[in-house]
Amino acid sequence: MAVPMLQHSATFSWLISLTSFFIISTAFLSFKSNSATALSPSNDADRDALLALKERVVEDPYGALNSWNESLHFCNWEGVSCSQRHVNRVVALDLGGQQLNQLHGTIPADIGQTLPNLLGLYLGCNNFTGPMPLSFPNASGLVQLDLSGNSFSGTLPLNLGSLKGVLDISLGHNPFEPQDLRFLTSLNNCSSLKALDVGNSNLRGGSPSSISNLSSTLQILIAGQNQISGAIPSGIGNLINLSFLALQGNSIEGEIPTSIAKLTMLQTLWLSGNRISGSIPSSIGNMTQLGQLYLDSNYLNGSLPRSLGNCQNLQLLILSQNFLSGVIPKEIARLPSISISFNLDHNSFTGPLPVDLQLEDVNYDNNNANSSTRNFISEECLVAAMSIGIACSLESPHDRMNMKNVVAELHAIREKIISVKISRTHHIRS
Ligand SMILES: *[C@@H]1O[C@H](CO)[C@@H](O)[C@H](O)[C@H]1NC(C)=O
Ligand SMILES: *[C@@H]1O[C@H](CO)[C@@H](O)[C@H](O)[C@H]1NC(C)=O
Ligand SMILES: *[C@@H]1O[C@H](CO)[C@@H](O)[C@H](O)[C@H]1NC(C)=O
Ligand SMILES: *[C@@H]1O[C@H](CO)[C@@H](O)[C@H](O)[C@H]1NC(C)=O
Ligand SMILES: *[C@@H]1O[C@H](CO)[C@@H](O)[C@H](O)[C@H]1NC(C)=O
Ligand SMILES: *[C@@H]1O[C@H](CO)[C@@H](O)[C@H](O)[C@H]1NC(C)=O
Ligand SMILES: *[C@@H]1O[C@H](CO)[C@@H](O)[C@H](O)[C@H]1NC(C)=O
Ligand SMILES: *[C@@H]1O[C@H](CO)[C@@H](O)[C@H](O)[C@H]1NC(C)=O
Ligand SMILES: *[C@@H]1O[C@H](CO)[C@@H](O)[C@H](O)[C@H]1NC(C)=O
Repeated sequence: MAVPMLQHSATFSWLISLTSFFIISTAFLSFKSNSATALSPSNDADRDALLALKERVVEDPYGALNSWNESLHFCNWEGVSCSQRHVNRVVALDLGGQQLNQLHGTIPADIGQTLPNLLGLYLGCNNFTGPMPLSFPNASGLVQLDLSGNSFSGTLPLNLGSLKGVLDISLGHNPFEPQDLRFLTSLNNCSSLKALDVGNSNLRGGSPSSISNLSSTLQILIAGQNQISGAIPSGIGNLINLSFLALQGNSIEGEIPTSIAKLTMLQTLWLSGNRISGSIPSSIGNMTQLGQLYLDSNYLNGSLPRSLGNCQNLQLLILSQNFLSGVIPKEIARLPSISISFNLDHNSFTGPLPVDLQLEDVNYDNNNANSSTRNFISEECLVAAMSIGIACSLESPHDRMNMKNVVAELHAIREKIISVKISRTHHIRS
């Protein structure tokens, strides 16, 4: 099976396993649209704010905003949810691109002031341009902000840290100007943060030690596809609730800290395509929830720790393109769960594969052979599928079709993980 296909199928299996795992913990906050018959003229402020947004949308090829007209109360406009308690106050705005890149335009700089009751703003996967507004803190109750997968420019706003109750910030996959990691530090006071996506957003420099000061409530951290340098801080072990950590495609160097093993909830560790050296710490065996381990395309050496055999949930082990040596421990071959993929190629392992290893997708090519092809391209597909927002930037229509489903799926998973959902009026057109 060709590598890209294999990795795609691995991705979908990951989605399925993660979905079923998290199906348990759901306490949805739900704010239903109210049908607000009595419209007091003094309460039109939010309608005006929505119209100001509509005015700035210059392209709407799928008519997402067609219902935003005088014949309907604005609380019934597509994507708009109003509060049940505060009549005519907009609490959620969901214009996330179901059709990729449907809306093109800018968003009003004062949107946080003009919609002060917003709890959720979802504008991901469109083509909004211009700088990111600095007024979000004025909507002080904001818990979910998704602006990922657009064409925002300028720099990441450094004032989101004053949103004390924010749970989910997704700003990844935007062509921001290069900037250092101060954005991460600026979120240190967000003591409830559960998900942060700043993948592919032009963060650069080091050291990423500010990661350790993020809230220990964090469950999802996506910062892949940037130019982050320096070593993974040993303080990463503070983030004890992390279940998904993606730092792939950066310039991270140094060794994997032993303290990473404190992340006992971690299900996915994705460090592919960095400059990480040294050996894989044997403490990795303490991460018993680990299902997907991507360490490929680094400079890891030494042998595989036997303790990996303790990771009884491991389904996917991608170690290709490193300098790993020694024999494959039989403990790993006996893992009950390695059912998806096991990729060891382009390393220096010796000896035959353990006889116990009965897998369809084992890749053990090019060991004891030096090859200069560092196969990071196929990784992109995987990066794409797993990181929310990138679907918007895929070129081929075929990929777009698939990615659209993946993005919808990721949305659902993320909501389950962070246990929050603010009445999303899904309007899927086919
Ligand atoms: C206003 O929106 C409603 C609901 O989508 C639609 O049926 C109607 O045609 C729209 N009216 C105009 C003038 O666009
Ligand atoms: C976004 O809009 C700009 C301006 O129209 C256009 O040049 C660009 O190609 C669009 N981006 C995407 C991803 O569609
Ligand atoms: C918006 O926030 C800024 C900065 O905190 C503050 O000075 C301003 O008064 C706020 N505006 C409103 C309308 O709340
Ligand atoms: C975090 O809160 C502390 C105390 O309230 C304050 O001194 C500090 O400036 C805040 N840091 C950030 C990055 O907002
Ligand atoms: C993390 O926080 C501690 C104390 O709150 C501070 O001393 C340290 O400088 C911070 N580190 C980073 C990288 O922000
Ligand atoms: C970790 O998550 C669990 C449930 O998901 C929660 O009960 C616990 O308080 C969290 N711990 C921290 C430090 O956030
Ligand atoms: C790993 O688990 C062992 C045994 O429970 C414990 O002694 C060790 O401190 C753990 N290591 C880390 C880094 O958590
Ligand atoms: C791994 O590489 C480092 C240098 O980067 C070297 O010091 C160390 O001895 C190597 N370890 C093994 C087991 O080859
Ligand atoms: C492959 O490795 C051998 C020594 O192990 C070395 O002499 C040779 O130059 C290497 N070839 C390439 C293409 O790196």
